[in-house]
Amino acid sequence: MYASRTFAIVSSGAMLVLGAALLPAQQQPHAVIDPVRIMEARYEVGRPWWDPARGTPLAASKDFDDPSGQLRLLNKSGEVQTKGHPFFTPLGSNGRSCVTCHQPTSAMSLSLDLIRLRWAETNGKDPLFAAVDGSNCPDLPQDKEESHSLLLERGVFRIALPWPPVTASGQLFKPDFRIEVVRDPTGCNKNPASISVYRRPRVAANLQYIALPTGGTLMADGRERTLQSQATSAALTHEQASAAPTRAQLKQIEDFERQLFMAQQWDVLGGLLAEPGGPPLLGADNLARGVVGVGAVPAADNLAASFDPWRNLSTANLAIRQRAFRESVLRGVDLFASREFHLADGKQGTCATCHGPGINHSIDIGTTNLPTAKESPELPLFRITCDASAPPHPQLGRTFLTQDPGRALITGRCADVGSILMQQFRGLTAHAPYFANGSAGDLAELVDFFDRRFKIGLTDKEKQGLVNFLSIL
Ligand code: HEC
Ligand code: HEC
Repeated sequence: MYASRTFAIVSSGAMLVLGAALLPAQQQPHAVIDPVRIMEARYEVGRPWWDPARGTPLAASKDFDDPSGQLRLLNKSGEVQTKGHPFFTPLGSNGRSCVTCHQPTSAMSLSLDLIRLRWAETNGKDPLFAAVDGSNCPDLPQDKEESHSLLLERGVFRIALPWPPVTASGQLFKPDFRIEVVRDPTGCNKNPASISVYRRPRVAANLQYIALPTGGTLMADGRERTLQSQATSAALTHEQASAAPTRAQLKQIEDFERQLFMAQQWDVLGGLLAEPGGPPLLGADNLARGVVGVGAVPAADNLAASFDPWRNLSTANLAIRQRAFRESVLRGVDLFASREFHLADGKQGTCATCHGPGINHSIDIGTTNLPTAKESPELPLFRITCDASAPPHPQLGRTFLTQDPGRALITGRCADVGSILMQQFRGLTAHAPYFANGSAGDLAELVDFFDRRFKIGLTDKEKQGLVNFLSIL
């Protein structure tokens, strides 16, 4: 069995010592007058949770420990005052703000570890667990842990969407398929005018590269056209605001999101990732500078070539473990870029065929449709029956089962059932679990899913290479 890159949570102190030991002498931190203060400024010692009431500024550049090393969060426009800032301040009635679910230490998403820690610290009383979508269904007894099991075990929030779909101008339109509820373990799919599905928070950073003028590149189903429409919906639903944020607040949220960059900065085994002359795809500073190719999160057209700086490692002054790790990453990069396998449409392709520059398409890879989705009796299950006149689903025909119809909840098209909009690949180890429905607990499980789904036939060594590659982005 190959090792998954899930490390035991090491105390920040231990991580720092380990970090210093791996860095070559010239990268060791200089002697400092007040090491504790410096450490607290640079690393989140003991305060992984950002409470909306914290009120301290978010530094221009800040590194946070995560399970495979450190993540860097970079505010291109400088330090951000969070006091009164609409991203960090509750806009509605339940005490949540955007930062509640988009936490700096979770790469601006929210890891399952952090959710559980918050439950333990507040006995389930944090606004994070608000009945509206932080519980399996609002009418369940809210003081019971099992009423929040989907959030506590899979890291997913309830997303309730109108059914049938409505157009941007508010008109209903007729979908070309029917939905029946086959299984309703949360009891939240009793109302036929609304469908509840359960999804992970997506990363609210690097959005300069994600929120494109074409629209439709946000949320698992691509339902939001712009960052401002997204923020309005988030305030009204997740924060239970009684009115939309003001135009000034929306602009402030968008401006903040567009100047915020995030990527892995340092790896416990691989060392400093964003070193001068290193692969230009790596590190938040490169992302913020818009170095050619990094605009495509995760992969550039020249993905394999962009790792050339790591290809001639024999001359580099690297520790043995560090060199072995970087060699493994290169195996992963090359596999990602050029190992061909059969895609569901019968054509040959690679990981990079789908995850090429510009992540703006949704496609069904079988994460939510049966029979390929992970068996999940805790999630709702729907039977889809497509009209005889409708174009059928490309792989599944006209009747099949799904846990989340994805894009089809917006387009009303049978052919879109199970299509999910791809996520960016940055800071991955800081925000497990993966896939919109949280069905892959760690990167090893994610790679296993692709290996099985597309019958790629990866060896353990190859799987490890992919895991290592994904964990340094
Ligand atoms: C209760 C948790 C929660 C709160 C509070 C919250 N979000 Fe989110 N956010 C989510 C979830 C869940 C998704 C993904 C939903 C989906 O895919 O359907 C998401 C998605 C996003 C995305 C999409 C990113 C992408 O790549 O598609 C952005 C941007 C975002 N949120 C910003 C915000 C802002 C701005 C606020 C505050 C106004 C906010 N969020 C408040 C949970 C939350
Ligand atoms: C046929 C297109 C396709 C191919 C081929 C493909 N992916 Fe994906 N990938 C997707 C889609 C769609 C999603 C979003 C699925 C979801 O969230 O349910 C995704 C999601 C991901 C994620 C993000 C998970 C997250 O939650 O942030 C990673 C990482 C990933 N893929 C890695 C890979 C690797 C590695 C390969 C090659 C072994 C690969 N993909 C091949 C379409 C593809």
